[in-house]
Amino acid sequence: MIFNTHDFFSLILSSFFIITVHSSRNTSLSNSDSFVLSCGGGSATDADGRNWVPDSKFLTSSKNSMTATAQSQDPSLPSTIPYMNARIFTSESTYKFSVSSKNRHWIRLHFYPTSYNDFNSSYSYFSVTANGFTLLKNFSASITSQALTQAYIIREFSLTPIHSGSLNLTFTPSIPNSSLAFVNGIEVISMPEIFQSITMVEFSDTSIEVEDSVLQTMFRLNVGGQYIPATNDSGLSRTWYDDSPYLFGAALGVTSEADKNVTIQYPDNLPKYIAPVDVYSTARTMGPNPKINLDYNLTWVLQVDPNFTYVARLHFCEFEISKINERVFDIFINNQTAQESADVMAWADSKQGVPVYKDFAIYVCDDLNGNGNELWVALHPSVSMKPEFYDAILNGLEIFKVNDTNGNLAGPNPVPSTLQGKAGPEQERRSFGSSLSNKRATVIGGVAGGVAGFGLVAVMIVFIKHKKRKAGGSKSTSLSWLPIYGSMRSGTTTSGIFAKGGGGNSCISTLGFGLCRHFSLGEIKLATNNFDESQIIGLGGFGKVYRGIIDGGTKVAIKRSIPCSEQGVHEFQTEIDLLSKLRHRHLVSLIGACEEGDEMILIYDYMANGTLREHLYNTNRPPLSWNQRLEICIGTARGLHYLHTGAKHTIIHRDVKATNILLDEKLVAKVSDFGLSKIGPTLSQTHVSTVVKGSFGYLDPEYFRRQQLTEKSDVYSFGVVLFEVLCARPVLNSSLPREQVSLADWALSCHKKGTLGSIIDQHIKGEINPDCLNNFVEIAVKSLSNRGIDRPSMGSVLWNLEYALQLQSNPDGPKVVAEQKANDAFILHTTLLSIEEQGEEETDNSSNEIFRKIVNPQGGSMC
Ligand SMILES: *[C@@H]1O[C@H](CO)[C@@H](O)[C@H](O)[C@H]1NC(C)=O
Ligand SMILES: *[C@@H]1O[C@H](CO)[C@@H](O)[C@H](O)[C@H]1NC(C)=O
Ligand SMILES: *[C@@H]1O[C@H](CO)[C@@H](O)[C@H](O)[C@H]1NC(C)=O
Ligand SMILES: *[C@@H]1O[C@H](CO)[C@@H](O)[C@H](O)[C@H]1NC(C)=O
Ligand SMILES: *[C@@H]1O[C@H](CO)[C@@H](O)[C@H](O)[C@H]1NC(C)=O
Ligand SMILES: *[C@@H]1O[C@H](CO)[C@@H](O)[C@H](O)[C@H]1NC(C)=O
Ligand SMILES: *[C@@H]1O[C@H](CO)[C@@H](O)[C@H](O)[C@H]1NC(C)=O
Ligand SMILES: *[C@@H]1O[C@H](CO)[C@@H](O)[C@H](O)[C@H]1NC(C)=O
Ligand SMILES: *[C@@H]1O[C@H](CO)[C@@H](O)[C@H](O)[C@H]1NC(C)=O
Ligand SMILES: *[C@@H]1O[C@H](CO)[C@@H](O)[C@H](O)[C@H]1NC(C)=O
Ligand SMILES: *[C@@H]1O[C@H](CO)[C@@H](O)[C@H](O)[C@H]1NC(C)=O
Repeated sequence: MIFNTHDFFSLILSSFFIITVHSSRNTSLSNSDSFVLSCGGGSATDADGRNWVPDSKFLTSSKNSMTATAQSQDPSLPSTIPYMNARIFTSESTYKFSVSSKNRHWIRLHFYPTSYNDFNSSYSYFSVTANGFTLLKNFSASITSQALTQAYIIREFSLTPIHSGSLNLTFTPSIPNSSLAFVNGIEVISMPEIFQSITMVEFSDTSIEVEDSVLQTMFRLNVGGQYIPATNDSGLSRTWYDDSPYLFGAALGVTSEADKNVTIQYPDNLPKYIAPVDVYSTARTMGPNPKINLDYNLTWVLQVDPNFTYVARLHFCEFEISKINERVFDIFINNQTAQESADVMAWADSKQGVPVYKDFAIYVCDDLNGNGNELWVALHPSVSMKPEFYDAILNGLEIFKVNDTNGNLAGPNPVPSTLQGKAGPEQERRSFGSSLSNKRATVIGGVAGGVAGFGLVAVMIVFIKHKKRKAGGSKSTSLSWLPIYGSMRSGTTTSGIFAKGGGGNSCISTLGFGLCRHFSLGEIKLATNNFDESQIIGLGGFGKVYRGIIDGGTKVAIKRSIPCSEQGVHEFQTEIDLLSKLRHRHLVSLIGACEEGDEMILIYDYMANGTLREHLYNTNRPPLSWNQRLEICIGTARGLHYLHTGAKHTIIHRDVKATNILLDEKLVAKVSDFGLSKIGPTLSQTHVSTVVKGSFGYLDPEYFRRQQLTEKSDVYSFGVVLFEVLCARPVLNSSLPREQVSLADWALSCHKKGTLGSIIDQHIKGEINPDCLNNFVEIAVKSLSNRGIDRPSMGSVLWNLEYALQLQSNPDGPKVVAEQKANDAFILHTTLLSIEEQGEEETDNSSNEIFRKIVNPQGGSMC
């Protein structure tokens, strides 16, 4: 490998340009303040062992406030302190802290929006200011928590030094005399100056004086690592979260951990409090295959408020490679080049295990489509540098919002989008589940009465204890799915499945409503016009589905069980248990439930565009374009991939079919219909034996033969859906000649004979790019392999579908031996997934080993 010294020096120079030397600043905290207040509560210690003290003596006046206790405790609260007590403000109120005038201070505000005595936090809108800076404005903790599907909210700010030594923190209800303000906990803690002036990405002549600004922490991620609680931070009581919920698409890269013999050594100019060792000793890289790495960007997508400047702080530390120019990559922020030819080894003076970080500043503006609410951080191998490995690495990522010129940091409340289903009038007829008309047309019903039972008991979900998660880490894993500083990409579109503390109804405890909202029968009757027949929109797994309106305008689908069915009770509880814990953009959201007397009722998001099936055939709807179909398949694959690998346990859907894929008003696919469930086998087993359930036409033949269920059964059924989408015909059609009755068999035999082209839906035949088609058919055929073991995982199905979409939308893009590549991708992805799925204790060794095995010298010879 030829090493280019010129490039190397310019690289070193450019890196010094941004990484300013910290040792010149005296950061020792001679006057350190630490106020940790449990508002409305007494002195107490929380679950992590932190001490909280009462807030009353910091209030300048006790006139306008009162204390209150929460009526219910959400199971996801990390600790009762400080969340179960609140201070409620009826009008403007100020806390006053006397603080050292030299240091920055963290302000952390804790909110648990629920019901407190007479106070309903849904009506609470307020602002919070600190010495002239607006931290929150018209803030609704209740709406925010619904949108983020989190029971509690923490907001963290970093205040500039207060020269007067007096910090005023003021809470003001937004609408005088009608809304209230509240807070559960306040932290004011001094911190060293950790910010400096940064040049703006793409505007090298503009720099932003971050050290003079107040910042809000939006995200703090331990990339490739796990949740780090405040008590394990390196001195600044920060919480670090798992980054995986923010990764774009299925391109997860590979995570790795530093070998035991690599010590993380902080250089002189980087104080330990910048980030703890745990952040630097874990990383995410792109993966071992250079060809694949060249073809994708390792991308994090983060929700932010538009019209603010953001600081992205990227933490790096190399512990796998040891030389300069081995791993060189470009960094893009919001699709703009923030840094070319990043070489962590060069920044770290060629020393392994030496942390560095880089700050980038970028202004995020509101684009005309209202899409300016995302921050993209992407990494890609730097081909022009001809590095030895085409790869990239990231260890930690922090995103801070900078105050605007008015000293404001407040953005609008997020919108809990699916709860506010705004379906147009002509879309009203469609909704959750299969509609009545649709049901009649369903093949299952038409083929034979004898199989009706399969159709009815539609779904079965099975838990398999997932190997991936460490048993001891239950707290950290559950928390890492509830990131505090913002929403997951998927989170913003799931609805608010979270406890509203609905007034102590006994069935909440008996049925274990978990995180889901409770409705009274009266509310449901009101919503459905007393179960008016005209409101029926379908037949679900165990009863009728009604259209309804709740909360004065929110459209919902209401599933009412057939009373007194023993099975119903089980399914009911299962669906609540399962769905209330699953939040994903591509899974239908459960809003709440009602159990009164014999009634068992589930309330879901209203799906304006009905089922996928009714967009494909026997329909009056216009045909979907090929791109739309691909997007729907990708969405569905994401939902299923999440079920298989994203949740705590592996969940097998067991009834994947076009009528269980629902489409919202924007045609976003959502997997639906979760009915029965079983706790799966123990670790060593890989399948569950069950009574065969599912829908004919989609049923995995192996499962049918051996009655053993694995997640590959879902892959099979999804393969059938892929052909259903491509060919737009029923999966079983008994009116056709025998060899054509089953779509799966017929498609496979056409594929073998090379006549598949003749059965593709005429509406889209012309639109499909041939490479895309090949890729799509390839993955569908593989999914229909006879033996589960030969079928790809849902993750690689997803990967390949995304690749197919790329080929479709960008046919002139990288066409480097497309077929070979897709094949490689498939193999690689399988490898990656299996690495990820190994036990934690094996990970460091095996991934390193595989890393070294696959990263071969040919890596650089691609170009
Ligand atoms: C920083 O301040 C501390 C205490 O105030 C002092 O002991 C130390 O020498 C100072 N360091 C520098 C680099 O100025
Ligand atoms: C609080 O107010 C919201 C919005 O009106 C309402 O839906 C909810 O039921 C109320 N909660 C209680 C406990 O009254
Ligand atoms: C803080 O509040 C006190 C009285 O409540 C007031 O005298 C002081 O000027 C305020 N300080 C700032 C910086 O607003
Ligand atoms: C709010 O209430 C107080 C006392 O009840 C009253 O003096 C004041 O005028 C009211 N303000 C508004 C805006 O209604
Ligand atoms: C936090 O630190 C303690 C003590 O070092 C350790 O036992 C614990 O596992 C750490 N927790 C996490 C989540 O890293
Ligand atoms: C750490 O140990 C592994 C083998 O256990 C070895 O391959 C590697 O070179 C060692 N690294 C360092 C920095 O010593
Ligand atoms: C952002 O700024 C633009 C231009 O000033 C404005 O039209 C838009 O409404 C702003 N967006 C938000 C969310 O404040
Ligand atoms: C970046 O580019 C991608 C693909 O062109 C686009 O989907 C995305 O919206 C862009 N992101 C931003 C923040 O502009
Ligand atoms: C990576 O992102 C950059 C910036 O958005 C874009 O120009 C480039 O095409 C992307 N590369 C790939 C392979 O997606
Ligand atoms: C943040 O506020 C401070 C004080 O008002 C101001 O000096 C600074 O320029 C603001 N930052 C930005 C990016 O506008
Ligand atoms: C306050 O927030 C609510 C909910 O997001 C919004 O409907 C309302 O318009 C906002 N009010 C103001 C004055 O911004």
